[in-house]
Amino acid sequence: MLEKRKSGNFKILNLGEMAFTRLDSRCLYTLLICMAFGSTLSSNAEINVNAPQDFEIVDPGYLGYLYLQWQRPLSLDNFKECTVEYELKYRNIDSENWKTVITKNLCYKDGFDLNKGVEAKIRTLLPGQCTNGSEVQSSWAEVTYWTSLQGNLGTKIQDMDCIYYNWQDLLCSWKSGMGVHFDTNYNLFYWYEGLHHALQCADYIKVNGKNIGCRFPYLESSDYKDFYICVNGSSESEPIRPSYFIFQLQNIVKPLPPDYLSLIVKSSEDISLKWNMPRGPIPAKCFIYEIKFTEDDTTWVTTTVENEIYIARTSNESKRLCFLVRQKYL
Ligand SMILES: *[C@@H]1O[C@H](CO)[C@@H](O)[C@H](O)[C@H]1NC(C)=O
Ligand SMILES: *[C@@H]1O[C@H](CO)[C@@H](O)[C@H](O)[C@H]1NC(C)=O
Ligand SMILES: *[C@@H]1O[C@H](CO)[C@@H](O)[C@H](O)[C@H]1NC(C)=O
Repeated sequence: MLEKRKSGNFKILNLGEMAFTRLDSRCLYTLLICMAFGSTLSSNAEINVNAPQDFEIVDPGYLGYLYLQWQRPLSLDNFKECTVEYELKYRNIDSENWKTVITKNLCYKDGFDLNKGVEAKIRTLLPGQCTNGSEVQSSWAEVTYWTSLQGNLGTKIQDMDCIYYNWQDLLCSWKSGMGVHFDTNYNLFYWYEGLHHALQCADYIKVNGKNIGCRFPYLESSDYKDFYICVNGSSESEPIRPSYFIFQLQNIVKPLPPDYLSLIVKSSEDISLKWNMPRGPIPAKCFIYEIKFTEDDTTWVTTTVENEIYIARTSNESKRLCFLVRQKYL
């Protein structure tokens, strides 16, 4: 700040004054450094705080939802009336950014991709009002977590595909790993906040006795929260690598096709197309319809939020017209 203001002044000073000002500013600068150093000596050098104790990552078996927990640091006795804070940073190993949380609690929960490792670090923060000076930070306590990733990568399932049909029926399907032994079979487990523990699929889709998909039961209060899935497996001949997935159900909705598509030809030019919304839990205002209209080998695509559309025909009557209507959930 000071340096900046001074240099701004240079423009209106003559050379002699300039030299003086520069000297002046250097003195001030030195003084400031001394003062800062002094205050460091008088408070921060004396006040040390330890990192939190027993920092650990606990896996409660929710397929990716982990607990980061710790205990108060040792020798905080001098700061009994002081609210200690913690700065927590965590990420999946290999991801670019750390998530940062400042908290007064001794536990923090979040979802992670268990296909990868997790790393986290935490330090204690003593706010300035407790130290008669600036905030004091401890060193970091660090911890990493890997779920036991047994088996070769090639034994993982492939092409996992999950669709939430009409916001009602969740269905996932997969292919077995490349070159896995014939006796390999896979199992699907899932969890979301609200379930007491991870559940296994109760209705597998099978081919030749092998599980290749899962029809989920009715999922109560499962929207707008992370939905965790693990597909693991077993074989007599080798361990099978589990795969983990996280998604939110409202993002994978696929509506049913429109019901009762009807065509009314009013005159040779005017055609009206109408359809009903599919039955189900999705409100009408959430749909957009796409109409594909083929005439004279020319295809038009248009969209509407209404459940009807008028089309002015341009070719003459002898030509065949073709309409396709589909809907999309907004
Ligand atoms: C802060 O200042 C108060 C009053 O001057 C004093 O009683 C207290 O011990 C000081 N605390 C620290 C941590 O230096
Ligand atoms: C598959 O995952 C479930 C849920 O985490 C676990 O209970 C089960 O033991 C695992 N099975 C194998 C074969 O690893
Ligand atoms: C129909 O269209 C064709 C080709 O555009 C034209 O030759 C023919 O005269 C039209 N017929 C009528 C009844 O308009």
